[in-house]
Amino acid sequence: MAHEITLPRPAADFHVHVRDGEMMKLVVPTIKQGGVSVAYIMPNLVPPLTTVDAVLAYKSRLEAVDDSITYIMTLYLSPAITPEVIHAARQAGITGVKCYPAGVTTNSEHGVASYAPFYPTFAAMEQEDMVLNLHGECPSSGHVHLLNAEEEFIPTLKDLHSRFPRLRIVLEHCTSAAAVRAVLECGPTVAATITAHHLFLTIDQWAGNSYNFCKPVAKFPSDRDALLEAATSGNPKFFFGSDSAPHPITAKEKAKGASAGVFTQTHAVGYLTEAFDKLGKLDKLVPFVCEYGRDFYKISEKETSWKVVMTKQESIVESQIGEGNSGVVPFKAGEKLSWTTTIVEE
Ligand code: NCD
Ligand code: ZN
Repeated sequence: MAHEITLPRPAADFHVHVRDGEMMKLVVPTIKQGGVSVAYIMPNLVPPLTTVDAVLAYKSRLEAVDDSITYIMTLYLSPAITPEVIHAARQAGITGVKCYPAGVTTNSEHGVASYAPFYPTFAAMEQEDMVLNLHGECPSSGHVHLLNAEEEFIPTLKDLHSRFPRLRIVLEHCTSAAAVRAVLECGPTVAATITAHHLFLTIDQWAGNSYNFCKPVAKFPSDRDALLEAATSGNPKFFFGSDSAPHPITAKEKAKGASAGVFTQTHAVGYLTEAFDKLGKLDKLVPFVCEYGRDFYKISEKETSWKVVMTKQESIVESQIGEGNSGVVPFKAGEKLSWTTTIVEE
């Protein structure tokens, strides 16, 4: 009998990119396929989601594709997000605000150059108990480069936390031992998401392979090991956010300027189970994927009529989803995983 794990409820993924239009129709069904029923949806569309109405309209488009998923919504921080917008957002059921430093990643050109002008917005968020999602990197310039961009951001994280100690902050997709330490040093209102791919990748696997290139970039083996340790530690400050970020093959196979983002949605829980199993930490899987994030966010969600069963049985990651050059190549495409995800309808 194969080793089997039935998740007590489907996973919650607190950092998801599903885009819009045709790409959205392709990618949204893969949320459930990957074992996830709660998806925290990123707002870096083109143009970015900077109004309550735009967020709500987007949520309706997502529900039209798959209504069984609970979509948790976040606004894109810009000068349009005033304290009044925060109050309206809370009323409308929007959970968070995502802050992209200008120029650090995909669709961040409308992002933030300086934090002080947003202090009144952050104060309103603290008052409304909303969540600030931080892309924790400083833009490259001078001594700041891809490999230290996250570490250089830590003083900003700590400064925002000390100014707004009751504001819930998530340091998104943390990738370095330094960031893990910083999150541990902050109070209980500061948490971090960890992706699946950063539990595998180091710098050697993305240099020369744009399918493994994402922001923040994967760093040194010691950093990867610190992420594995944090994810499997049983500390509720660290929970799952896949940062699954689909880009069409044409945007990835570019000699110059390949888009940043790794697509992991189809096997989200599968990759994690593999990583936790290798460390003999399967007992920590359910808290990391099902519990800590839900608790931190205090979300309410739809009932699901399906279960996620992980079986220790080989599966092969598909070579791509979607047709031709507008398709998307998943992380570890064509490679074996030792776990298979099955969605069981009840
Ligand atoms: C994300 C994307 O493609 O939208 N890319 C990435 O490399 N992670 C944006 C982001 O989360 O940084
Ligand atoms: Zn992201």
